[in-house]
Amino acid sequence: MRVLGIETSCDETGIAIYDSILGLLSHTVYSQTVHSSFGGVVPELASRDHVQKILPLIEQTLYQAGMTVRDLDGIAYTKGPGLAGALFIGAMLGRTLGFTLGIPTIGVHHLEGHLLAPFLEPNPPSFPFLALLVSGGHTELVTVNEIGDYQLIGDTLDDAVGEAFDKTGKLLGLDYPAGALLSQLAEKGNVHRFYFPRPMVDRPGLDFSFSGLKTYAAQTVSSCQILDEQTKADIAYAFQAAVVDTLTIKCRRALLETRATRLVVAGGVSANHALRQSLKTLCQQHHVSLFFSKPIFCTDNGAMIAYAGCQRLIAGEQDGLSVNVYPRLSLTECTKLYTG
Ligand code: KG4
Ligand code: ZN
Repeated sequence: MRVLGIETSCDETGIAIYDSILGLLSHTVYSQTVHSSFGGVVPELASRDHVQKILPLIEQTLYQAGMTVRDLDGIAYTKGPGLAGALFIGAMLGRTLGFTLGIPTIGVHHLEGHLLAPFLEPNPPSFPFLALLVSGGHTELVTVNEIGDYQLIGDTLDDAVGEAFDKTGKLLGLDYPAGALLSQLAEKGNVHRFYFPRPMVDRPGLDFSFSGLKTYAAQTVSSCQILDEQTKADIAYAFQAAVVDTLTIKCRRALLETRATRLVVAGGVSANHALRQSLKTLCQQHHVSLFFSKPIFCTDNGAMIAYAGCQRLIAGEQDGLSVNVYPRLSLTECTKLYTG
């Protein structure tokens, strides 16, 4: 089955074609730049940009795969969570294409897409596994028994970790989204200059809190008389080290509690090099297998939607003709995959 995946939940237009036998055939992603000077995503601008880019990207993705729309067997689009207007662009186009071509169409949970993205890699995990989902809107520890069977065992009480990266990056004068830029800046940071607290690690449980860390970064910035490039790099280093340590400590705790033997790390922040290194060390110490995607499939992309949608379409699921999107949608609202 060849499935076109469409991702438009936020500020990336991601398109891909996944073949259930051959794997990923092609993918394209356009990251919107209109938001950089606003310090965050402007929903109306995001929708307008998706409208401009989505069809040219579909055409390009089909061309790269050597296909036309008539070669598609199914369509998958992101149904939520995300920005309502942005979601509607992909949902409406995807559903209309499916209707016109007479092929099954399915709305995919964006977070399920992230969780399953490591299945696009040559050595995918097997079920069950523990997952750390770290994105711009979510910071969750999840036990995954099989596709659609997810249990949330840890969550953020306030800001998501990607949001904390973006807000701290903004304080340091970095463009939105600042995560990757902050991490590059941190590489030049002095390891010994600042030490940031590791939030909630001395309390039991698997929940996170990152808003205090962002405030700590703001106070550090305002206490510096000169905010030169080296000072910015030193703050970036201290912030990232605190985030990475906190996530690693909570993952260790969750691995011990669940006795999981596999850890999957997914979502935009899982592209972070320091986090990947730290979790590699943790997993080696605990004899746990670690899985993550190539960085391009950690951040929002169409391939993860095509993959997740393909699994559900193969199981016989498909949507009716009324188009729905769900701006707020928890991972636990996913349904178990029908296996017969
Ligand atoms: O998963 P994603 O593309 O979108 C959401 O579903 O939210 O995640 C985007 C988030 C942004 O906050 C971005 O700054 C962060 O992931 N991010 C990173 C890195 N690459 C992206 N954060 C830290 N280090 C990175 N290398
Ligand atoms: Zn995402």
